[in-house]
Amino acid sequence: METQRLIVDNNVDSEKSYAQAVDLLNAGELVAFPTETVYGLGAVATNDSAVKKIYAAKGRPSDNPLIVHIGTFEELEKYVNDIPDNARKCMDAFWPGPLTMIFKVKPNVLATSVTAGLDTVGIRMPEHPVALKLLKMLGKPVAAPSANRSGKPSPTEGIHVEQDLAGKIPLILDGGATGVGVESTVIDLTLETPVILRPGAITKEMFEKVIGPVKQPTHIEQKAGAPRAPGMKYTHYAPNAPVYLIERDQQQISQAIETVHQQGQKVALLAPQSLEHLTTPDWFFTLGESKEEMAANLFHALRACDLTEADIVLATVTSTDGVGSAIMNRLEKSAGGKWYARDYQK
Ligand code: TXA
Ligand code: MG
Repeated sequence: METQRLIVDNNVDSEKSYAQAVDLLNAGELVAFPTETVYGLGAVATNDSAVKKIYAAKGRPSDNPLIVHIGTFEELEKYVNDIPDNARKCMDAFWPGPLTMIFKVKPNVLATSVTAGLDTVGIRMPEHPVALKLLKMLGKPVAAPSANRSGKPSPTEGIHVEQDLAGKIPLILDGGATGVGVESTVIDLTLETPVILRPGAITKEMFEKVIGPVKQPTHIEQKAGAPRAPGMKYTHYAPNAPVYLIERDQQQISQAIETVHQQGQKVALLAPQSLEHLTTPDWFFTLGESKEEMAANLFHALRACDLTEADIVLATVTSTDGVGSAIMNRLEKSAGGKWYARDYQK
C-alpha cells in the first residue's frame, strides 16, 4: 500500500485532503492525524474490522484498549452509561484538550476491539484544529492510539508517522509539529477517589482545583499493582540503543561521557540547550529549557537517536512538578528505569 502524506494548514487548500480522509475512514481504512498531544492513528470506532487494522498496523497487543475521540459534547452520552458530576466538571474545564476520561461503556455501540474486553472506555475531545475539523466532518467517533509502531516513541511530527507506518496505512494528514508533545492525561473517574492512570499536560494540581483530591500513583506503585491502564505495562518509548537517566549536572554528564568513550562507545546526549556547548557527546539533541519545551521536544529527541550510531543514550531528568511528572513517566519507561550512576557497567 502506498502511503500519502498531505500537508493540511491554512496556507494550502486542504478541503480535498479532509474529504479524502473522511472517505477513507468511512470505507473502513486508517488515517493518521495530528492532535495537540501526539499524532493519532484513527479508525471509525464503531467499525470492528477497521479498528482491528489499527492493532495490526502498530503491532499492538490486543489487550491494550484504544482511546475514542469525539468532536462534540453531545456525542458522549451515546457511548457511555453514566456521566459522573466530576466528569462534567472536568469536561467544562479541560475539553477540548489533552485529557482522556474513563467511563462505564454503553454495551454494543462501540466496536468490541476498542475496549479490549473491558467494561470501560477512555474518551477524549482533542483541541487540535485538524483533529476537530476531521471529527466534525466525519460525524462519527474515532478510535485512535498514538500513530507509532508499538514500543517506539509517540510521533510528534507527520514524518515520524511516515517513518513508522509507511506502506501500512493509506493517508497521513500532516499538520506540522504537535504542541504538547506527550500523550493526554488519562484519569479514571469511575472510582471513589479519581486516579490518574497516565500523567500528562493536565496535572494533578489542575484537577484538584476543579474536583478536589485525586490520586497519582508513582511509577513504582503502578508496577506493583495490577495495571489499570493496560498500556502502561508494555515497553515504551524505546530507541534502539539503551537509555540511561542522568542528573542535569554538567560535571556528572562530562564524566559519564568520558567513561563511555573510554569503553570505545559512542553516546547521544538529550539535555537542555544550555549544555550543548559545555559537553562533548557524539550527538546532542536538545530538550529545551522549560518543562513545556522538554515535553514538546522529548519524543523527537528519542527518535533522533535511532538515526545515529550511538551505543548508549544519556537523558537528563527533571523534577516532577507540573508537566514534569508526565515527562519523567515517559523518560523512566524509555530507560526501563536505568540510571547511569547506578546501572551503567563500566
Ligand atoms: O494523547 C493521546 O491520548 C493520544 C492521542 C492520539 O489522542 N493517544 C494515545 O493513545 O496516547 P494510546 O493508545 O497510545 O494510549 C492509550 C492509553 C493506554 O495506556 C491504554 O491502556 C489506556 O490509555 N486506556 C485506554 N482505554 C482504557 C480503559 N478503558 N481503561 C484504562 N486505561 C485505558
Ligand atoms: Mg501510545
